[in-house]
Amino acid sequence: MSILDKVVAAVTPPESDEQRAEARAKARNAATDGDWLSLVLEHHTQIEAAFVAVKAAADAAGRIDAQKRLALLLTGHSIAEEAVIYPALVTANEEAHSTKAYTEQSAAKVQMGLLENLDPMSQEYLDKLEHIRGAVAHHVYEEEGNWFLDLKTKLPPADQTKITFRYQQEFSRYTRDSEDETSDEPLSPMSRVREGVTGAKAQY
Ligand SMILES: [Fe+2]
Repeated sequence: MSILDKVVAAVTPPESDEQRAEARAKARNAATDGDWLSLVLEHHTQIEAAFVAVKAAADAAGRIDAQKRLALLLTGHSIAEEAVIYPALVTANEEAHSTKAYTEQSAAKVQMGLLENLDPMSQEYLDKLEHIRGAVAHHVYEEEGNWFLDLKTKLPPADQTKITFRYQQEFSRYTRDSEDETSDEPLSPMSRVREGVTGAKAQY
């Protein structure tokens, strides 16, 4: 079993729902309106809802649509974290957390790719989906529980401003052209992110 397989194999998150809710409340407290942490938390919430929608889909076509939306959010969010937030963890002398974060997200990407090959209405599909959901839930808990709180307190205000802009930019770069491919319905939170990019200073 590869390292990436082992990461996702730990399907049941060791923390409880209460612990997860507590971590999120604390992270929300630390975030300010429109900063990188508030955007990350918004995307985490959207990802959780997207997992629920995939599982709840009534037929194969609906499930594939929901899976595409989940993949769009998950990949856009993870790419933005990998390009901006995890390097900032290194700047804040949190190399071990940064390395673990990259490893966990790589594992999720592998599993999301494999999910595409399964019959969307099979039990095997639902089992893998639940594996990925559990692994992502644990990863999110680690980010919200302490990694990102450390980043909020350790980096100076100028760095916080910069990573807010860069996180939005990277997320938008991935999601901007992809919306039409997943659904007829617009994803309004992404549009809001794009507006933020348009209005930001082009100094980074
Ligand atoms: Fe995240």
